[in-house]
Amino acid sequence: MRLVIISNRLPVIVHGEMPNAGFERSIGGLVTGIDSYVKMIASGKTRFDDYLWIGWPGTDVDEKDQNRVRRHLLDEHKLLPVYLSAEIIQEYYYEFCNRTIWPLFHYFPDHVSHNFRSWQYYEEANAMFYATLQQCLRPDDVVWIHDYHLMLLPQMIRRGFPEVSVSFFLHIPFPTTDIFRHLSRAEQVGILEGLLGADVIGFHTYGYAHEFLQCILKVLKLKSDQHEIVLNDRKVKVDIFPMGIDYAGIRRLSLSKQCGSIRESIRQDFSGYKLILSVDRLDYTKGILNRLIAFEQLLEQFPEWREKVVLMMIVAPSRREIGAYQQIKRSIDEWVGRINGSYGTNKWVPVIYQYKQFNLTELCALYAASDVALVTPLRDGMNLIAKEFIASHTDKKGVLILSEMAGAINELVDAVAVNPYSTEEMVAALVRALTMSCEEQAFRNERMHLRLKKYSVVKWAHEIMEATINNKNNKPVRSTR
Ligand code: G6P
Repeated sequence: MRLVIISNRLPVIVHGEMPNAGFERSIGGLVTGIDSYVKMIASGKTRFDDYLWIGWPGTDVDEKDQNRVRRHLLDEHKLLPVYLSAEIIQEYYYEFCNRTIWPLFHYFPDHVSHNFRSWQYYEEANAMFYATLQQCLRPDDVVWIHDYHLMLLPQMIRRGFPEVSVSFFLHIPFPTTDIFRHLSRAEQVGILEGLLGADVIGFHTYGYAHEFLQCILKVLKLKSDQHEIVLNDRKVKVDIFPMGIDYAGIRRLSLSKQCGSIRESIRQDFSGYKLILSVDRLDYTKGILNRLIAFEQLLEQFPEWREKVVLMMIVAPSRREIGAYQQIKRSIDEWVGRINGSYGTNKWVPVIYQYKQFNLTELCALYAASDVALVTPLRDGMNLIAKEFIASHTDKKGVLILSEMAGAINELVDAVAVNPYSTEEMVAALVRALTMSCEEQAFRNERMHLRLKKYSVVKWAHEIMEATINNKNNKPVRSTR
C-alpha cells in the first residue's frame, strides 16, 4: 500500500535555477512532523511500503526548469511538485490562505482581508493539486491531506475516486461558528462540504473537533453521533489526534556529540545568567510582543533580576510579503531595541535577538542549554516547540511556561500555564520559573517526558492512518489517547 501525502508546502524550497538550483528545508510544525513519519515509511516500519509527497516547492519555478526540478524531486526525494504561478500564489496562498483563513481561524478577525476573487483562486489551486494527484493516484493508495490550504480537496477526490481512503488533518485551530460565519455563505458551505469528502477528519484537540461539529450542525444542518457524521452512502469520522514529536530522535540528537558541544559553548557564553528561550516562526499569532513586554516588566518590577537573566529570542522569517508580518517584525525590532537601550549595561545585553532559521541540532542545543522556555502564543493549533524543549532536556531540568491558548496545553499539563494576554500572569510565571527548585522541575518534567514518549509523532500518524483505513472498512477504532 502507498501513502500519498498532500500539503501546500513540500519539505523543501527550491532556490535558483537548474542545474545549480538549491534545495533548502521548509519550516513549520507540519513539515517537521510529517517528515519524521516519512522516514519511518522509508525504513519499512509502517504498514506502507511506499510513499509520495505532493506539494508546492515554495517558489515560482521558471517554466524551462520545471521538468528538471520535477525529475530531481521525484527521483531523489519522492516529492511531486505542484507548480503554481505567481498570480495563483498571490491570490490563493497570500490572500485566501494567509489573509483570510489564517487570521480568522486564529481569532484575529481584525487582520482578515476578504474578497471573492481570492476564494475563486482557492478553488482553482485546490483543483490544481487534484489534477496533479489524479495523474498518479492508484486505487489502493491512502491519501492524507494536510491543513487549511487544501480543504476542498477531500471532496474532489471523493467524486473522482470514491473507492480511495482519504484522511484530512487540520494543523491549526478550528474556530467557533460565530467566527467561521465571517466567511461568505458560499465559502462556509464549500469548506465544510469539501472536508466531508474525507473518511476521517482529524484535529489536535477536543475543542477544535467540537467547534467543527457545531459548524456542521449549524451551517449544514447535519447531526453527528459519537463524532460520526452519517451521510447518504458513508460515514465520516471526526476525531482527536494531538500531534507529537519524534521523541526518541530528539533525545538522540540532544545526547549527540555535536549537539553537546554547541550546548556547552552556549552554557559557557551565558555562565552566571539564567537563560530564557523564545523560539518562533515570525507570526502575529505567536505573542512575541506580549512576551517582550512581560520581560521588560520583569526587569522593571524585579530589579534584582537585572544582569542575572538573558532572553534569547529566535524568530524564523516567514510570509515576508504580507503587511501584518512586516509590521510585527518592525515592532519586535523596536521593542528589542527599547529593552536593550533602557536596561542593557557594558557587560549585559538583556535580549539576544536573532532573526533567522536554526537547524534542529542548533535548536536542541539551545533548548537543552536554557533554563526556561517561554512559549506563549496568543493562539496556536498545537506548538511543537514546547514539546521539543521538554524532550531535549535529557536531564529532566528546565521550566516550560506555556500559553493556555496553545493546543499543547491539553497534554503538557505540568507546564506553568499562563494567559498570554496578561502581562501580570506572565511576569509572575517568569519569577516562578526562575526560582523553581530542581526537584520540582524534575517532578513536572518526568510526567511530560512520559506523555511525549508514549504519544510520539509516529504514533500520531499511525493512529490517523489506522482510523482512516478502518473507517473505510467499517471497523470500530480503538484509540490509545
Ligand atoms: C503552520 C501551518 C503550516 C505551514 C507553516 C509554515 O505551521 O500550519 O501549514 O506550512 O505554518 O507556514 P508557510 O505559510 O510558510 O507554509
